[in-house]
Amino acid sequence: MTGLQGRTALITGAASGIGAACARELAARGAAVTVADVDEAGATALAEEIGGKAWAVDLLDVEALERIRLDADILVNNAGMQVIDRIVDYQPEKFRMLLTLMVESPFLLIRSVLPGMYERGFGRIVNISSVHGIRASEFKVAYVTAKHALEGLSKVTALEGASHGVTSNCVNPGYVRTPLVTKQIADQARTHGIGEQEVVEKILLSESAIKRLVEPEEVAGLVGWLASPAAAMVTGASYTMDGGWSAR
Ligand SMILES: NC(=O)c1ccc[n+]([C@@H]2O[C@H](COP(=O)([O-])OP(=O)(O)OC[C@H]3O[C@@H](n4cnc5c(N)ncnc54)[C@H](O)[C@@H]3O)[C@@H](O)[C@H]2O)c1
Repeated sequence: MTGLQGRTALITGAASGIGAACARELAARGAAVTVADVDEAGATALAEEIGGKAWAVDLLDVEALERIRLDADILVNNAGMQVIDRIVDYQPEKFRMLLTLMVESPFLLIRSVLPGMYERGFGRIVNISSVHGIRASEFKVAYVTAKHALEGLSKVTALEGASHGVTSNCVNPGYVRTPLVTKQIADQARTHGIGEQEVVEKILLSESAIKRLVEPEEVAGLVGWLASPAAAMVTGASYTMDGGWSAR
């Protein structure tokens, strides 16, 4: 479970959920981890726990990201959010916000870390996409659009980075047990007037062959492997961890 000694890793949205699990995983594998999040207290607490650094940053501030120069051997683009509504009711500013956080900001971070990776001849970019990067669901227009765009960004990065020792891949989980999902479960239970367990089994996991949520540590294990020397030939790929959802 090592292989990342001497490497630096930058993980966005790392104060919570999947990002936090990735921070712990990469630190356990030996990397010096920067925990980037708009939640400064959360980022600081986790950085202290894993012996890393905290970076309090609002990734919606794309003008600042345009000017920044970052150095990292491993970049995990993980920060994300969800807004659910019918297209006809969808607020344009929410659509723009999700696209900014989950497409433009990853582009700017990749653009910023690549020169250093190219100089060192090594880089690992892991983009936390979703089963919604390869499948659609109703009422998630901005999220599905953003994740599909992230898939394209990841593939172009893979092609341009290949001759410089840089790989770029997507990870595509189904529903993961994180605050992002527990909030959706509570909302849906209220909206549909049913219990939370029923929401998980009948609504969230209707397409999943395995009827349980993914654990954040399971996603982090895959991210750790993609960052490791063992995955040097894996690039431009999208790895599902969706309990069989996309097998349909
Ligand atoms: N939970 C799931 O079921 C699931 C499934 C597939 C993909 N994903 C993806 O995994 C990623 C992480 O999701 P999660 O479930 O761990 O969510 P989460 O809500 O637990 O964590 C998201 C983190 O991103 C941070 N963040 C939000 N906006 C930010 C901003 N403007 N600047 C900096 N940080 C910001 C939050 O503070 C939070 O710490 C997202 O990209 C999400 O789309 C989640």
